[in-house]
Amino acid sequence: MSSIPDFNEAFKAVFGHAASHRVIAPGRINLIGEHIDYCGGQVMPMAIDQNTSALFRGNGGSTIRVYSDRYNELVTLVPHDVLTKKQDHWSDYAQGLLRESAHRSINKGFDLLVRSTLDSGGLSSSSSFLALLALANHFALTGESVSASDKGLRLQLALNCQRTENHFVGIPSGIMDPASILLGGLIQLDCNTLKYSHLNPLPDEYCIIILDTSTPRSLASSGYAERVEQVRAIEKILGHDRPKNGLANLDPNQLSTAQGKLPGTTLKRRLQHLVSEQQRVLEAAKCLADANITSLGLLMNESHESLKSSYDVSSPELDVITTISRQHAATLGSRMTGAGFGGCAISLCHRDLADEHNQFVAEAYFQSTGLQAGLYITDTALPASIQPI
Ligand code: GLA
Repeated sequence: MSSIPDFNEAFKAVFGHAASHRVIAPGRINLIGEHIDYCGGQVMPMAIDQNTSALFRGNGGSTIRVYSDRYNELVTLVPHDVLTKKQDHWSDYAQGLLRESAHRSINKGFDLLVRSTLDSGGLSSSSSFLALLALANHFALTGESVSASDKGLRLQLALNCQRTENHFVGIPSGIMDPASILLGGLIQLDCNTLKYSHLNPLPDEYCIIILDTSTPRSLASSGYAERVEQVRAIEKILGHDRPKNGLANLDPNQLSTAQGKLPGTTLKRRLQHLVSEQQRVLEAAKCLADANITSLGLLMNESHESLKSSYDVSSPELDVITTISRQHAATLGSRMTGAGFGGCAISLCHRDLADEHNQFVAEAYFQSTGLQAGLYITDTALPASIQPI
């Protein structure tokens, strides 16, 4: 299906009628604030111009038909089916989202043809797909397209996406990814209160470059779940001594006392990361407000080091590619982004040196690893949307 250039023609070929709406959901990177969204931390994700897009039309029936361009496969889902368990198939996301959104109406079915430019691991293709489904489903049920200014509804849809992953797909992810995708731009999000603000974009002379290590994130789901369990274990041990608004909010002055209550070294190191990463996000917000981009870059380097040495979620290739990137004059800071265990890093670079940087990194990374890195400048994107064609 990818070879069919005209998306509209492809929709007609699959479903036998023309699409009425187009749905777009960006991917995301996270500038800083990693692995703290599931313990009340503040995060700084940015919606990016790589995205998942779809064509949509209500089908007058009660089934939902989703054609995935990536898997070249059509699935037909019955929203009233509350018995089907997850199948370890891409359509779990759609089945789970319908379940979480309590889609029970008759004759509110729809057809979707989905394609994605989110080919690199770690840019949240799954939340992008979920957010797209959430907007399509909301439109099918209510006839409302969810304006960009309807923040409350957008956060509710983001929570539905998170619950789908947590309860149906079985990944204990935080709220960061769907919130970023449904709110768009660069935000600072408090994952405890869900209060957020849109931040000024980087000054024009700087840019974010995505560095795809071209390595799979094979340990991502098991390693991620293990980190979340460790955080819950720390919460249990600290009991009433832990901050009510989440471990990331522990006062840094109380860190060593809290660490003293934890057995072994692993949990101590985990807590070290959570508390220090939260402080780095707060400092990063100040840097952005003051346009102090040099200091922002240094905070990104420190974040990577903490994720590598205290949280153990980096990978040899992520370490190699960020180290190489930092060796180039273009780079102010470089770090892994997302869950880690492979996938992508990001670098904060001088825009006028970006092409030179990418050539340098591609060559040096290939020499070190034998792998071809994917390197591309990314820009902030608008929030996920559904619009008439
Ligand atoms: C994944 C999860 C997010 C977040 C990041 C790490 O992307 O889906 O909720 O925990 O990892 O910051």
